[in-house]
Amino acid sequence: MANPFTLGVASGEPLPDGVVLWTRLAVDPLHTDPRRPGGMSPRSVDVRWQLAEDDRFTKGLRHGQIQALPLWAHSVHVRVDGLRPGADYYYRFRAGTQQSPVGRTRTADDPASTRTVRFAVANCQRYEHGFYTAFRHLADERPDVVFHVGDYIYELRQSARVVRPVGPLPGEASKLHEYRLRYARYKTDLDLQAAHAAAPWVPTWDDHEVLDDYRGKGDGSEAFKKRRAAAYQAYYEHQPLRVRPQDGNLQMFRRRTYGLTADFMVLDARQHRSATTMLGAAQEQWLISRLHTSPVRWRVLIQPLFFARRFVPGPQPNLRLDSWDGHPDQRGRILATRAPGLVVFSGDVHNAWAGELKADFLDPASATVGAEFVASAISSMPPETDGAAVLAANPHLKFFDGHRGYLSCSAGPAELRVAYRAVDFVDKKGAPVRTVAEFVTDGSGLTLENASSK
Ligand SMILES: [Fe+2]
Repeated sequence: MANPFTLGVASGEPLPDGVVLWTRLAVDPLHTDPRRPGGMSPRSVDVRWQLAEDDRFTKGLRHGQIQALPLWAHSVHVRVDGLRPGADYYYRFRAGTQQSPVGRTRTADDPASTRTVRFAVANCQRYEHGFYTAFRHLADERPDVVFHVGDYIYELRQSARVVRPVGPLPGEASKLHEYRLRYARYKTDLDLQAAHAAAPWVPTWDDHEVLDDYRGKGDGSEAFKKRRAAAYQAYYEHQPLRVRPQDGNLQMFRRRTYGLTADFMVLDARQHRSATTMLGAAQEQWLISRLHTSPVRWRVLIQPLFFARRFVPGPQPNLRLDSWDGHPDQRGRILATRAPGLVVFSGDVHNAWAGELKADFLDPASATVGAEFVASAISSMPPETDGAAVLAANPHLKFFDGHRGYLSCSAGPAELRVAYRAVDFVDKKGAPVRTVAEFVTDGSGLTLENASSK
């Protein structure tokens, strides 16, 4: 067999005692025959895995075997448990005589831990728009955990702007083999592979993993139901998730807790959505009860969409209804919990923002009840945005930046810090990274620590 590890390795869903290890076998990742995704024969393949405390695989070695099935495009998801909390581990796979690269992962902290958690937030990586240099820099930081808040792929037909072509089948993806091929194209990127191999990931999705701006069951047709089920299956096949799709649904909202420091509540803003709700009743109830009862210092929402009110001056519409401004009542109920240490991370808008969450966004004198940090895109082009005008129209928004990049964060007993990491270009490889701003919050308001150091 030729090298089947062309899509790299990954880990994710860290718990204090375990992680999920992932890879997908693909000897020819851009193979277009729907019956042979990844150029693989339609039969199962034995895959052996190893995990150890050191990258030479000599200390605390564990190993096992799992079958890569054609049903799941030869992806494997290995749940390893019985591990130590807050500890680094290394892992690799073997199929036949071929060995995968080595990945580093890390378990979540002990439930009683008060140590500082280092995490990164990334999103929006349209392949043809540019190189994933930002992911290479993120990998170098080796955070405890990486959160991805959506648009991991774009289902859209290849953009008019092409820094690098998406390759075969550049039209809009709507069938299982097309989504699989799109993931394979994205995952051949070595910078993305490096970011997965550097730390465990906890991903959630936005719209482009299925269809631009879709909500819930879409138009309710059988065709959309089938399309969404295909997209969710391909998503599962390419992410280190603990749960599988069932009957066309995939349980996505969940929490990942790091000791007494941070409760990361990962939201699903698409699957349960309708004209009247962003999250659906069950997810809202789960979130609000968790916001009330969680004993941690920081209650962190990990989700795709701009959360604070954002009034855009100029021609209507001035509020973007695909974001939380389309669901102000549900947003109000979340903020009304007055959960201490509430911090929201988001993405989607392809620019970086920071702001304060207000009890009443229309009253600047009302209480500040949290902070929001919006990650810019890894590579996706930003829309035309007059950042200064939007900041002026929304006093609770404090910061705008138009570079591509990601967030490098730490949550500790006293404060939560967010560094806006940016690259100056993505149309060529090799951009250096720099911090364009760093914010600190103690749970009440935002302080700008370091202004741009160009
Ligand atoms: Fe996007």
